[in-house]
Amino acid sequence: MGSAPVNVCVSRRGQQAEGPAAVLAIGTANPPHCVHQDEFPDYYFRMSRSEHLTDLKVKLKRICEKSGIEKRFFHINEEILAAHPDFNDREKPSLQARIEMTVTEVPKLAARAAAKAIAEWGRPATDITHVVFSTYSGARSPSADLRLASLLGLRPSVCRTTLSLHGCSGGVRALHLAKDIAENNHGARVLVVCAEVSLISYSGPTDGCVDSVLGLALFGDGAGAVILGAGPVSGSERPLFETVCAAQTTVPMTEAAITTQFAPGGMEYRIGKQVPGIVEQTIRQCLLDVTGPLGIDVVTWNDLFWAVHCGGRAILDSVEAALGLGSQKLAASRHVLREYGNMSSAAVVFVLEEVHRRLTSKNADGETAEWGVMVAFGPGVTVEIMVLRATTNLEEK
Ligand code: COA
Repeated sequence: MGSAPVNVCVSRRGQQAEGPAAVLAIGTANPPHCVHQDEFPDYYFRMSRSEHLTDLKVKLKRICEKSGIEKRFFHINEEILAAHPDFNDREKPSLQARIEMTVTEVPKLAARAAAKAIAEWGRPATDITHVVFSTYSGARSPSADLRLASLLGLRPSVCRTTLSLHGCSGGVRALHLAKDIAENNHGARVLVVCAEVSLISYSGPTDGCVDSVLGLALFGDGAGAVILGAGPVSGSERPLFETVCAAQTTVPMTEAAITTQFAPGGMEYRIGKQVPGIVEQTIRQCLLDVTGPLGIDVVTWNDLFWAVHCGGRAILDSVEAALGLGSQKLAASRHVLREYGNMSSAAVVFVLEEVHRRLTSKNADGETAEWGVMVAFGPGVTVEIMVLRATTNLEEK
């Protein structure tokens, strides 16, 4: 074959952006219905009409007490369950009714988070060129990303991609994909949105089965939005973090540890007891594989800032123990876990927002590290890692 025509070569060079993609804005949102964790066991067993399962309720109480969570937000409430009592019974087909609700609620929640990010960014929504949407809560196409584009008034030529069922690692996967898009398309401005509404998987308890209540003690609803772009426009765009590099690793032989599937009675998932142990045994090497080649000038893991997905208190304890982190290093993750629970893919966006607040805070909870790492875990077991550099306001501290 002959060489490519000159215009094609020139066009290829022009496609690439200059410099790394940066986080230009972050927005988050939750549904209004708030449930305090110490009231959750009573609330849940009343709502699911399962008060007679006293042993399981005692167990749920114990899990809630150890969860590190104080409150969570949900779309589902007693009114919805009164209208859809089948949601309490896994054996009854209710997937269709759940999907009908998530088809409207997921994009609505996503749009609230995205509107905040766009307002912070300061440019018109029509300047968004790409959308990357992550959710476990949808099962229909056209999917939530199209409805989101319409709610936000994005232009018809916006390039949309949906990541489905990546679970808790979906947030970092979406940001990684957005980085690749932004760095390979000159002028691209990528809107990443992670939105999760847990009514797709809600169910009443199964007698004698802790698995049936574990996720109910941990998961909450929320949406996180991030705008990424390379080559920030000086004077009008303010980069918060540079994305340095990103990697995905799958831990061998752990396929069964976290699983999700759609079933007639709603989405089912299983989180094995071994997950915190898998994280503790593997996280250090996964991080070394990514940070080693960078030659970042850090002496210990404590020299970095950390945006770790708040999958559960035991997950954060495992990361802290494996890396020998000081007690304040995962403060942003523990804060998000406490205030919102595990919002799956959206949670890490809340954590990133909280890390940014701490990096720019003049209070005692301030963080001073320049380099940092974002980490999330999901089915696979998949470990998603992104190395970040804080670029905003540090000089003002
Ligand atoms: N599946 C089923 N049951 C589980 C479980 C799991 N993954 N993890 C804990 N349990 C059960 C324990 O067996 C125990 O039941 P028991 O009283 O019958 O023995 C009960 O929950 C409490 O466990 P305990 O060991 O006393 O508390 P803990 O300190 O482990 O705290 C959690 C409980 C759930 C808060 C904690 O284990 C956690 O945060 N786990 C991580 C959850 C996770 O993997 N999230 C997804 C990551 S992306």
